[in-house]
Amino acid sequence: VKRPLWIVVLAAGLGTRMRSEIPKVLHKLNGRPMLQWVLDTAEKLKPGKTIVVCNRSNVKPVRNDISHNTVEFVIQSKPLGTAHALLSVKKLIEEFSGDILVLNGDTPMISPDTLKRFLQRHRRSKNSLSIISFEIDNPSGYGRIIRDSYGSPIMIKEETDLTKEEAQIKEVNSGVYLMDYSAFQLLRRIKKNSRKGEYYLTDILALATNRGLRCGVYKMGDEVEFMGINTKEELQKAQRLMRQKVVKTWLQNDVGMMDEDRVYIGPDVAIGEGTYIYPDVYIEGETSIGKNCIIYPNVRIVDCKISDNVVIREYSSLEKSVVESGATVGPFARLRPGTLLKEGAKIGNFVEVKNSLVGEGTKALHLSYIGDAEIGKGVNIGAGTITCNYDGKKKYKTIIEDNVFIGSDTQLVAPVRVKKGAYVGAGSTITKEVPEGALALSRTEQRNINGWVKKRFKKRGKR
Ligand code: UD1
Ligand code: CA
Repeated sequence: VKRPLWIVVLAAGLGTRMRSEIPKVLHKLNGRPMLQWVLDTAEKLKPGKTIVVCNRSNVKPVRNDISHNTVEFVIQSKPLGTAHALLSVKKLIEEFSGDILVLNGDTPMISPDTLKRFLQRHRRSKNSLSIISFEIDNPSGYGRIIRDSYGSPIMIKEETDLTKEEAQIKEVNSGVYLMDYSAFQLLRRIKKNSRKGEYYLTDILALATNRGLRCGVYKMGDEVEFMGINTKEELQKAQRLMRQKVVKTWLQNDVGMMDEDRVYIGPDVAIGEGTYIYPDVYIEGETSIGKNCIIYPNVRIVDCKISDNVVIREYSSLEKSVVESGATVGPFARLRPGTLLKEGAKIGNFVEVKNSLVGEGTKALHLSYIGDAEIGKGVNIGAGTITCNYDGKKKYKTIIEDNVFIGSDTQLVAPVRVKKGAYVGAGSTITKEVPEGALALSRTEQRNINGWVKKRFKKRGKR
């Protein structure tokens, strides 16, 4: 049987250094609350349980703002420090026979990979307690790792308790711990720090080594990953660093960018080589983009699957859509959730598509609304065509079969079907099925009154 893993995220601090009404862990890092980043990373380790420790005042907003399928919340009764916070899960953890991974809610940039490697090291070394450390040029604010003359870690000392010499130590505590139940029980023995009046979780290292528990402190990951965010300045810095790190990875993978400081790529995005991105492009959520695409300025793409050789022109918005290879979108186009553009389809300026399939090589290039439609191959949708999909209560489907030609300024009142190869004359309102190969017209015939203008202005004298 696999040894179980539970995760505890500490998020009950008062966050006073943030100087904000908003709970610290709900401050957004590149659009997503800090704590959400931590929980999303935690989930990738497939823990048996994830527990978030909140305080009385932030538990409500946290519950509301965080999407949490399997997360449990526990309240720390008073803000008495990190050891006290972790102890507030003691009832849940009683006699737990696996490993407890402790994360800080204000350390959102940790990668799942680093945590997986950490877990491996902890288990392979059969440790009771493991801690991740990292090196940083300016260690102020972090707890320092104190090692003996053999290099074995013996304790962690917080900023306020350091001697001048110790303050020079650049190896610091990341706030990420793995412990078994025997180490967890030592929390009860941690004494109040006399200077701060708090129970420091960091004291667990000295206690555990003194009692002869197997302990390990491992330098892993980098400074960016473990950056704790306590102030607004640190939050801004973290956003920049996170963005730069992701952008750099894609540059190394042969993605081109005109200005890498003005491209925003989420951590769960994948981009194929040879794709080129102009400034002010936002690629978010679970988006994948194929090879050799071009994305022009001011485009936002969220949760989309885009294949190779796709061109997305400026000022377009794409959400939860699939775009097959060789298709083009924009400028000024909007693909709303449920859009599927088949190979080589073309969606042009001021065209909105929602919950619709647009067939291979089909074009809708100007000023149209396509909603709840199923459009075949090689169809031409004329300028200003509207699918009237909504009667005020329900939505209905429009079906346009292969090789249909829809003239400009057509309204298709759903539910309606235009069959294979049919034509619809410009300016028509289509309410009935159009048979295969037919021409549908629904507009009043034009009447010309010859000489009308001259007659009118003769009476009044002046034009
Ligand atoms: C803590 C560590 C420090 C480490 C650093 C890494 C301690 C005493 N110090 O310092 O060694 O280098 O993190 O970023 O642990 N929290 C509670 N209840 C409390 C106090 C804090 O839940 O009573 C939570 C906070 O919400 C936060 C986390 O614990 O998510 C860390 O607390 P914080 O006050 O930010 O500790 P640091 O001073 O950053
Ligand atoms: Ca912190």
